[in-house]
Amino acid sequence: MANASVSQTLNQTFKANLRFPLYQYSVMRSLIFSAESLFLPLIDLLVNRRRPRLLSDDLSLLKASREALDELLQKDIDNIMAGLYPIEVLRPESPIKHLLRIPVLFKEGIRAVQRRGENRATEFNDQAQGFLYEVPEYYRRNFHFQDSGYLSNESAELYEHQVEVLFAGAAGAMRRLLIKPLKTRFPDTDGSGLTFLELGAGTGAATRFVRLAFPKAKIVAVDLSAPYLKQAQKRLRHFPRHDFVEANASHLPFQNGIFDAVFSVFLFHELPETERREVMRESLRVLKEGGWIGMVDSLQLGDQIAFDSALEQFPRDYHEPFYKNYVQRPIEKLMRELHIKGVHTRTGFFSKVVWGEKAKPVSPMGQ
Ligand SMILES: C[S@@+](CC[C@H](N)C(=O)[O-])C[C@H]1O[C@@H](n2cnc3c(N)ncnc32)[C@H](O)[C@@H]1O
Repeated sequence: MANASVSQTLNQTFKANLRFPLYQYSVMRSLIFSAESLFLPLIDLLVNRRRPRLLSDDLSLLKASREALDELLQKDIDNIMAGLYPIEVLRPESPIKHLLRIPVLFKEGIRAVQRRGENRATEFNDQAQGFLYEVPEYYRRNFHFQDSGYLSNESAELYEHQVEVLFAGAAGAMRRLLIKPLKTRFPDTDGSGLTFLELGAGTGAATRFVRLAFPKAKIVAVDLSAPYLKQAQKRLRHFPRHDFVEANASHLPFQNGIFDAVFSVFLFHELPETERREVMRESLRVLKEGGWIGMVDSLQLGDQIAFDSALEQFPRDYHEPFYKNYVQRPIEKLMRELHIKGVHTRTGFFSKVVWGEKAKPVSPMGQ
């Protein structure tokens, strides 16, 4: 007994001492990506010979975003300390891979700024051309002015690094906002017997985090992009129990009521309004009664007033044709219109997690 309590105390002390170094690691990581993000205005200056807008032009926005970033990173470490997900979520990729990618990102940054300058948003390489006939019309574009949109191996290889640069190294922590409410709905389980569906899984970054939090759950990852799913498969090659399905989230190839949870990360802001509703309807169709539905996506207007100006600027700088409409139409309202119960929201930096449950049909009185 005495030995058990000594080892428990040692364990607690070890854990308590780990908090600060982990937080420092996250801050360092964020500083590296923030430094890399300075390439973008530099490229803009070189290519367009005009000084681009910087976050630092608006000091109150800069201050609010630094504070929100710090709060998100702190909470992320708190969640690790509380055992919601393992430290493994912070594991960095090889620094050599990271460094080797920087010149490629720089070159691609120049091309993206040129595309933006000339408003060219439908350029595809040969591989991407081959996929165009299979995907919906709204998807045939260079989202973010990136090379071949979501339809080439090159784009899939650069994507995760680009997202981290855009979000000052906080993209992972924002995606992990999903896990706390998911763990609250499915407490004290390693996921055995549960089946989750992820829509717009992209290159599998969020899939990996959910997998680490629920190691025994089965996860089905859906995306329209074959090259992105290939990258996701590579990322998750050491983990069992995955299916990768190339499909449209608004026309899912699954039976009714088979998933315990359906979720997405950074999908809805990329969809036209009608498609957002269809994807939500399809999610509910394939979800079990009482099942969990949630998403992480960009903040919307009024979620954090201090960030509203940045939300309005974002689609002017990046090719995000449906974003302006997305930020004006609260996702919570759509969920309630579709009778989703217990809709909740938590914000973190430039994102929020919104979740609820599929209502069970009300049984007639007396039955
Ligand atoms: C911004 S990315 C987010 C990817 C990933 N969830 C992440 O956390 O980085 C949006 C993803 O949604 C996918 N997508 C867009 N429309 C889709 C649709 N209708 N059905 C399935 N996937 C879609 C894109 O191919 C892309 O991989």
